[in-house]
Amino acid sequence: MTDEIPLAGVIGNPIGHSRSPRLHRHWLERHGIAGDYIPLHVQEEHLDEVVRALPKMGFVGVNITIPHKVSVMRLADQISDRAILIGAANTLIFRRDGKIHADNTDGYGFLANLRAGAPDWRPDVGPVAVLGAGGAARAVIESLLAAGATEILLANRTRPKAEALKSDFGARIRVVDWVQAGNIIEDAATIVNTTSLGMTGAAELRVPLDGLHPGQVVTDLVYNPLETRLLAEARAAGCVTVDGLGMLLHQAVPAFERWFGVRPEVDDAVRAAVLE
Ligand code: ATR
Repeated sequence: MTDEIPLAGVIGNPIGHSRSPRLHRHWLERHGIAGDYIPLHVQEEHLDEVVRALPKMGFVGVNITIPHKVSVMRLADQISDRAILIGAANTLIFRRDGKIHADNTDGYGFLANLRAGAPDWRPDVGPVAVLGAGGAARAVIESLLAAGATEILLANRTRPKAEALKSDFGARIRVVDWVQAGNIIEDAATIVNTTSLGMTGAAELRVPLDGLHPGQVVTDLVYNPLETRLLAEARAAGCVTVDGLGMLLHQAVPAFERWFGVRPEVDDAVRAAVLE
């Protein structure tokens, strides 16, 4: 018997809206692990102090969310290749030797969700249209390129951010103007919205959607609402649609496995627990 209670958590600011505690607690309970997962509201100026203290009180790791995903990398002793490419970390692992390992599982979660929701999806059957060039887009693009996507058509309201992504990720990316978003939606085999548009409380995604057609796979990182206007129109047009909640669930799988030693399942029960 040991009285060690493994703890994990999520560090952000704000943090009250995070669904990760429900997700991880559901898995902890399901696997009979006497641990916990705690939301931690941390200001930027306290980030280093907090992260360095956590392993001393039983934390095996933490998730990192807005606005700390980039700045937390300075605290890592080891950074995974994919986190380096994305330029941000969403997961820290506190190793027994005292070292901090930083990883980014967002792109993994994106792809695992896409593959689960659209089992016939292939990265190389045609261009992938990506809307948005923020932090989420970097993770999506890294994973698409690693999966073998041959061409990514990238549109962002602020074009220089898309150009910056192209210079980081290379020739398989073609940047197009935001006003051309309707055209790339028509031409692409896969369409991904990584912007916050369409989220409850944010502006609507107003790009033309009349080019959507059967045979396309359409996914939205926004999961509140679960069916965004993009997904509703895509479904009506006969596309295969994949909602964004699964990305949240799948990105958590490798982190939970590293921290607690069990690979958890993404299934209806965990979806329901997170939506409660
Ligand atoms: P995240 O980490 O979720 O990607 P982010 O880095 O703030 O968050 O990126 C938000 C994305 O949504 C960006 O691509 C942003 O476009 P800009 O780079 O032009 O800001 C996009 N976005 C947010 N509001 C938008 C709006 N009203 N119209 C078009 N794009 C918008």
